[in-house]
This record gives sequence, C-alpha cells and structure tokens, in this order.
Amino acid sequence: MVSYKELGFVNTKEMFKDAMEKGYAIPAYNFNNMEQLQAIITACTLTQSPVILQVSKGARKYANQTLLRWMAQGAVELMKEIASESGLKEIPIALHLDHGDSFELCKSCIETGFSSVMIDGSHLPYEENVEITAKVVEYAHKYDVSVEGELGVLAGIEEDVKAEKSIYTNPDDVEDFVKSTGVDSLAIAIGTSHGAYKFKVKPGEQPPPLRFDILEEVEKRIPGFPIVLHGASSVLQEYVEMINKYGGDLSGAVGVPEDQLRKAAQSAVCKINIDSDGRLAMTAKVREILWTQPAEFDPRKYLGPAREELINMYMRKNREVLGSANRVY
Ligand code: 13P
Repeated sequence: MVSYKELGFVNTKEMFKDAMEKGYAIPAYNFNNMEQLQAIITACTLTQSPVILQVSKGARKYANQTLLRWMAQGAVELMKEIASESGLKEIPIALHLDHGDSFELCKSCIETGFSSVMIDGSHLPYEENVEITAKVVEYAHKYDVSVEGELGVLAGIEEDVKAEKSIYTNPDDVEDFVKSTGVDSLAIAIGTSHGAYKFKVKPGEQPPPLRFDILEEVEKRIPGFPIVLHGASSVLQEYVEMINKYGGDLSGAVGVPEDQLRKAAQSAVCKINIDSDGRLAMTAKVREILWTQPAEFDPRKYLGPAREELINMYMRKNREVLGSANRVY
C-alpha cells in the first residue's frame, strides 16, 4: 500500500471547498504520456492553478500502471522544480482515476497512490449504481481518498465508455444518491458529451446550450455540493482546421463553447474534465510539423513543439475558462 500523501498528492476536498467558495473550477486534465504530463504540470504551476491529473483505465493500460504511478510521482517533483525556479508557490495536485468501472480497479488505484477515484456506475440501474458507489466510498474513505460518482449518461465515445444517447441527470435522484453513497462529488449530465463530435450542427450553427436549468435544480437539492462536468472539451476549431489542413479528416468535429463552461465554472461545478482538447492540440502540431518538414524524424522536433502548444492551451484555459489561475490557497 502506497499512500498518496507520501507521494505529495492531495485529495480533492480542499480543492473543491475553495473552488465552491470562490466560483471557479479545478481543471481535470487527462494524460497518457510524458509530454502531456509535462505540459499539464508546467501550465498549472506557471498559472498557479491547482490541478487534477486524470488517468483512465485505458491510460493505465497504455502507459503501464507501474510506470504511470512513477511518472505521476515525478510530476510532483517537476512541479516543485518549476515553482522554485520561477519564484512561485507549489500547487496542490490530485491524482485521480477517471471512469473507474469496478471496485477492484478503484482499490488497486487507491493502493498505488491515487488520491481520488471515480466509480462510474451511471450505466447501471439506480440501485446498482448506489451499491457499487457506496462500496468504493467505504473503502476509499478509510484512506482519506475522495470519490466521484455519476448520475445520468453522457453521449459520445471515450475509450471503453460509449453511449449513443445522453440521458440527463434527474434532479429528483441526486439527494438520495449523495446521502446513500457518501460520495464527495457528483458528475452530472447536462448536455456535454465525450469525444470530438459532441453535437451535429450545420456549418456556422451554434451547438445547443447546456441545460443550466437542470444544474440549478441539482444545486437546489444538494446546496454547496461539488458537481463535476465530464465531456467538457471545446474542440477548438483552430486545431480542427490545422488537422484538416495537414492531411487529417475531422470534418464536423464540434465541442462545448467556452463561454458555457465559464458560466458553469462560476456555479457549483468544481471540476471540469478536458481530454479531447489536449489530444487535438497535440495532433494538430505534430501533423503540421510532419507535413511541412517531411525530412524530420527526431521525435523531439515534433513532440517538443506539440508540448509547447499544449502548455499555451492549458494556461489559457486556466485563466479564461476555468478561472483557476492564481488560486493556490
Ligand atoms: P472530452 O472528451 O470532452 O475531453 O471529455 C473528457 C472527459 O470527460 C474525461 O472524463
């Protein structure tokens, strides 16, 4: 058993308390490889934003769960180095399992240094969702690890998580779910979705607005309780255009407009999950370089600039979308 506290991580309790009080959201950025991790840590330290490092089951498989844990531990040291070199404060970092699909997976993450886990029983019948979530909470809380549950189903595809249609969260369920399970935060479905194709819109048309009426109802039923938004990438069109220009094909890729997320961040939404935007920024830059410099074969020459692109994007998101910059408490 490795405790996250020994590795320098924090759970999400203080993060959410501060975010709730001050009306911003903590960025939850996914990573699978070194460059993404370096970019997240650099951007969040330089903007002085607390951060949740998200690891999915697929990322654990891709990068190897042992290596990933050491990478995450190394990230804490990297953060300290950047902070000290720039005369900045150290930032709180949580290591979170994204979309845990079993008790065993959550337990394994808790035992290897995660400070927060999500148990996603949203596809299960309500009673079964309550049951599995409560079981994870009981185990996690013994080690002071935070637990995120989910009610409602997001459409879209994200690794093993697939759904054709979204089912909005029913505000009538949230109070009972939170009480019966003891979760520390709740992911809800208000119109966001996973992946790069969130909405079917005609060129020039705006995607439908998020269902802020549902969010408000939820807030009324569980006042002051931290809410999580999954599927919150904006699918930045500059990257979609770059990808298409340099040999890719992502026609029709659309995300959640950033002004909608800004509004959500000012409410009880305390955690905003962003993965696809990072993938798109990285792919766009790599494509541009390989297309315009066909003789280049040193991975540092395309992954390095891709990492810079990611740093700039995350810094801007922290400052302009999540409102998490300069929030080190
Ligand atoms: P996006 O696909 O919108 O980035 O969502 C990521 C997510 O919700 C991770 O859990």
